Amino acid sequence: MGRMKTVSPDVYAEPAWVAPGQEDSSGHSFEHDTRWQMLRKNLRGAISAILTHRTNRRRVARGDFKLRPLIGSYYVTHRCNLKCGYCTEHYPIRDTVDLDTEGAFAVLARMRREMDAIYFTGGEPLVRPDIVEILREAHRLKFFPIYLGTNGLLLPLRDKVLDYADRVVISLDSTDPAAWDGILGAGPGQARRIYEIIAHYAREQRQRHISLMINCVITGDTIADVYRVMEFCFRHDVVFSPVAATADSLPDRELFARADYQRLVRHIIELKRRGYPIIGSIESTETLLLGRPFPCYATALPHVYPNGDVFYPCQPLGRIGGNLLELGSIQAVYREGERKYGPWKECWRGCALNCYVLTNYYMHHFWDQMVLESVGQFAMQPGTGKRLPAEAALEPLYENPEEWQPIYEIAAAPEQAGYDVSLAQLTRSG
Ligand SMILES: C[S@@+](CC[C@H](N)C(=O)[O-])C[C@H]1O[C@@H](n2cnc3c(N)ncnc32)[C@H](O)[C@@H]1O
Ligand code: SF4
Ligand code: SF4
Repeated sequence: MGRMKTVSPDVYAEPAWVAPGQEDSSGHSFEHDTRWQMLRKNLRGAISAILTHRTNRRRVARGDFKLRPLIGSYYVTHRCNLKCGYCTEHYPIRDTVDLDTEGAFAVLARMRREMDAIYFTGGEPLVRPDIVEILREAHRLKFFPIYLGTNGLLLPLRDKVLDYADRVVISLDSTDPAAWDGILGAGPGQARRIYEIIAHYAREQRQRHISLMINCVITGDTIADVYRVMEFCFRHDVVFSPVAATADSLPDRELFARADYQRLVRHIIELKRRGYPIIGSIESTETLLLGRPFPCYATALPHVYPNGDVFYPCQPLGRIGGNLLELGSIQAVYREGERKYGPWKECWRGCALNCYVLTNYYMHHFWDQMVLESVGQFAMQPGTGKRLPAEAALEPLYENPEEWQPIYEIAAAPEQAGYDVSLAQLTRSG
């Protein structure tokens, strides 16, 4: 780590706005893997996920919760060109410096030894001028799938990243430009650019062999807008991924208790049941959006910060196990974390973030939900022409008010659900 260089903030000078299609997206031939290569990678990824799942089940059975990673989140920077009102990344739990390109490559090389899949996030990954090189390196190292989480604004400037990303997750909370601009906090005009960018790259999904997903954060102010975001997704052949805004990674109980919110969640689940492209299983969607208690296995999803620091066991608890470049592997970081903070077990705090909720389904419903879901997702690949009518996102799906009754008691007392407990109480055995 000693010799690794970090980058100066000057590198992130605000780049000029480039409209989609204006830069190099039209006219250049896309370098992405062919369909055959993608199929092979999908098969290899599935086999690796099965083996990792088996290893992790065995580890948990013998009381070892330092799991083998299924996918790693790499925060390439904390910097961002927007200021979304609810975003905790403005004040990251640990503010760290960004490694230079070579340092980022070293992080990738170490992550690759222990996992197949990677999720690039931040901050805004596309503010890094070297983000194309970083994704190219991830592709060269044969990570699969490569996810890229972005607010989308700089995609036209750096759309070479799409030659190397497999799944691109773009944030969109509202189709009302004034409301979306209000959330983004960077002045008027950003929202319309983002709609244009999503529509543009959605049309290119098939050519580019990428799959787009919209991450939609639901707040009390945007409940009514979410129906339109879903309609936008289905119309553009994009997967919809909803999440309720969290504070300290915990769900907002007041929001969950609102009738209009519960109605929205029922609508989402009904659309999911009808085969619309919505991420997760029905059960995991209920857990995420309605706050069902669940055991979390966070170490299956290591979070790596810009300087190479890795959390143990997870980001919400804010404890760094160690630095990946210094210790050499995620497992070494976990061992160091265990030495510093003591052993950790499955946790019931209930962090309502998609990645952590999914760890439960990964451990306990691998075959009946995760695998089935992945096969469904594969069949829903963009461009397959299996589009269902987008209008269903806006239509009332239930006539009978009885049907709007909560699926189960949602507004459970926090103590009952195991929330708001102190750090010392956070773990409990099987
Ligand atoms: C932190 S951002 C990083 C990637 C990129 N800058 C973006 O906005 O997509 C990752 C995702 O977290 C979501 N997010 C941010 N703050 C949140 C919160 N308090 N609760 C739930 N999701 C949140 C964002 O909307 C975004 O989709
Ligand atoms: S664009 Fe992403 S990182 Fe930036 S403020 Fe919004 S949610 Fe946070
Ligand atoms: S539920 Fe527990 S282990 Fe999982 S992310 Fe939250 S605090 Fe961490």
